[in-house]
Amino acid sequence: MLERLSNKRVLLGVTGSIAAYKAGEVVRRLREYGAEVRVIMTHAATDFVTPMTFQALSGNPVHQHLLDTQAEAAMGHIELARWADAILVAPASADFLARLRLGRADDLLMAVCLASDIPLAVAPAMNHRMWTDQATEDNIRVLRSRGVLTFGPDSGDQACGDVGVGRMQDPQILVSNLAEVFESGALAGLHVLVTAGPTREAIDPVRFLSNHSSGKMGFAVAQAAVEAGARVTLVSGPVSLNTPDGVKRYDVESAQQMQDAVTSCMNDVDILIATAAVADYRPEQVEAQKIKKQQDELQVKLIKNPDILSTVKQRYPACFCVGFAAETENLEHHARTKLHDKGVDMIAANWVGDTVNGGFNSDENALRLVWHEGEQELPLMNKSKLARAFIGHIAQRFYVRHKSALTGDNILHFDKKENSES
Ligand code: C5P
Repeated sequence: MLERLSNKRVLLGVTGSIAAYKAGEVVRRLREYGAEVRVIMTHAATDFVTPMTFQALSGNPVHQHLLDTQAEAAMGHIELARWADAILVAPASADFLARLRLGRADDLLMAVCLASDIPLAVAPAMNHRMWTDQATEDNIRVLRSRGVLTFGPDSGDQACGDVGVGRMQDPQILVSNLAEVFESGALAGLHVLVTAGPTREAIDPVRFLSNHSSGKMGFAVAQAAVEAGARVTLVSGPVSLNTPDGVKRYDVESAQQMQDAVTSCMNDVDILIATAAVADYRPEQVEAQKIKKQQDELQVKLIKNPDILSTVKQRYPACFCVGFAAETENLEHHARTKLHDKGVDMIAANWVGDTVNGGFNSDENALRLVWHEGEQELPLMNKSKLARAFIGHIAQRFYVRHKSALTGDNILHFDKKENSES
């Protein structure tokens, strides 16, 4: 479960409470499990702990001021909100909870909370009378109704000498609770196959045709599918990326090898997500020896590669197939055309060729999802976050196709036989 934190970007908000000293332990645990952590401190928090402590523990500069032109230029409140996969405010003081309920944006932490649409968890820490005060109870009730997660508080001895409920939850338990946020179960029991990266089409023993695909999107999709409870197989072209935990990976070079690897896995695959940038053509002939630099002109005849995605869809019509459309113009039109031409269930279209909209090699991307009955825009965000949103939509469309509403019961009772090759 805690491995879910690997590669996650956690924004830790520290507010003015004596429990602020325990937030250092939260940072250490989060990093131990592979999360990247950035800390935002409120002004009151700095009365309890110095920013230097969190800078040293997180390995990142601590963010403090909303109206700091230098900080805003480096990573302002909108960038911080966009950067993070989840926000944890620990400790969350009574004052912070009151301001969060009101939607104030009068300091950096409040502004980031308001500007983000990612999971937000708070770990209240205060005197037990403040915790049971009607005002705090009201604030917590409203915040929970808006989807804010509350971790704790625990009961026991308090710094003020009182005994009662109001201690910040133990850092280890807090971190475990946060890990659960990344577990959706939306694809539980399903086998998902992801293709990723570029392919290399050999010209001679030392040269090849390829493209700029980094494989980052496909690997993020594979990781998000694991987090959603799927058994995940990844067939990857040459990339320099680590295999996400829990993913079975096959490495290939050429389009033909990719097709062979995919075909050998297809028996029980429920969902194919083809993120690979497969070369459309390959040299008809691969020279046995390195081509010498002799002639002024050299012609290499290219022939068409098999289309892995549409071949799979034809052979396994029950498999829910998702393709990508990397386009430099007419995004919408090309995506719809591809949806029909390849006969697939969904196309994820993205702009390539400029840095503004992410794409190849970038850490960020934006997608337009197109399926037969509708479409959905997923705005520019980091690829991990985007992959999770993407997987959420795939799960939804997958179950809609199987005439089940997306409820926990239906997911658990989904009959896999219905999806087997007929
Ligand atoms: O036709 P186009 O290459 O634009 O289609 C892109 C989509 O088709 C991607 O999902 C890609 O992984 C898949 N594809 C494939 N086999 C090919 C070419 C593309 O699976 N030979």
